[in-house]
Amino acid sequence: MRIETARLCLREWRETDVECYLTLSRDVGYNCFSPPGAYLVPDEEGARAQIRKRMEIFERLRVAKFPIFLKNGGEFIGTCGMEPVEVDGASEVELGYRLCLKHWGNGYAEEAAAGVLRYGFVDLAMEKIIAFALPQNRPSVRILEKLGFQYQREFLHAGIPHRLYQMTRMQQRRDRANIPTLTN
Ligand SMILES: CC(C)(COP(=O)(O)OP(=O)(O)OC[C@H]1O[C@@H](n2cnc3c(N)ncnc32)[C@H](O)[C@@H]1OP(=O)(O)O)[C@@H](O)C(=O)NCCC(=O)NCCS
Repeated sequence: MRIETARLCLREWRETDVECYLTLSRDVGYNCFSPPGAYLVPDEEGARAQIRKRMEIFERLRVAKFPIFLKNGGEFIGTCGMEPVEVDGASEVELGYRLCLKHWGNGYAEEAAAGVLRYGFVDLAMEKIIAFALPQNRPSVRILEKLGFQYQREFLHAGIPHRLYQMTRMQQRRDRANIPTLTN
């Protein structure tokens, strides 16, 4: 699996991505707006275990929060993808993105998310993808709205009020003009 956009390349996790996982685990920007320690691993073995977990989910469901690399130079910059999640008792698939701090401010999350939405709706023929963000996470809310996600309501995630959004396949077709074109 490989998703390419103008500047980015996303692919499934590999056992050899230990350095990438250690990088995101320690990055203050990546861990912003996540429960403290959510991505923290004690050592390389911990990173390998997390990667294997992601590889297993991908094998079963063809989704993951994929590592993102710059096409120019190959640097690892963060993750973007989809994961199964439960919202008020219903099974959903959630879009998410996180970038390492030094790569904020370049529009990479929106670009990566557009590639992931194309993968979900076109390659996996998904009917609906949801997303959520804390109201105070202005960049994330802005990205969802620019991508064409529709605001649904507020809901509690991990006991904290979040803004819940969704996009359906029909909507994505209609709004495709808004989604940056992939290079292939
Ligand atoms: C959310 C995140 C991925 C955005 O990364 P990014 O691609 O660098 O986003 P950008 O800085 O390019 O900003 C995206 C948009 O939000 C806007 N924005 C940025 N900061 C903003 C602020 N404080 N208030 C309002 N809008 C803001 C930008 O102007 C841009 O909109 P534009 O394209 O119309 O100009 C990044 O901040 C991150 O990794 N945060 C920590 C993890 C996280 O919160 N993930 C989302 C969980 S829901």
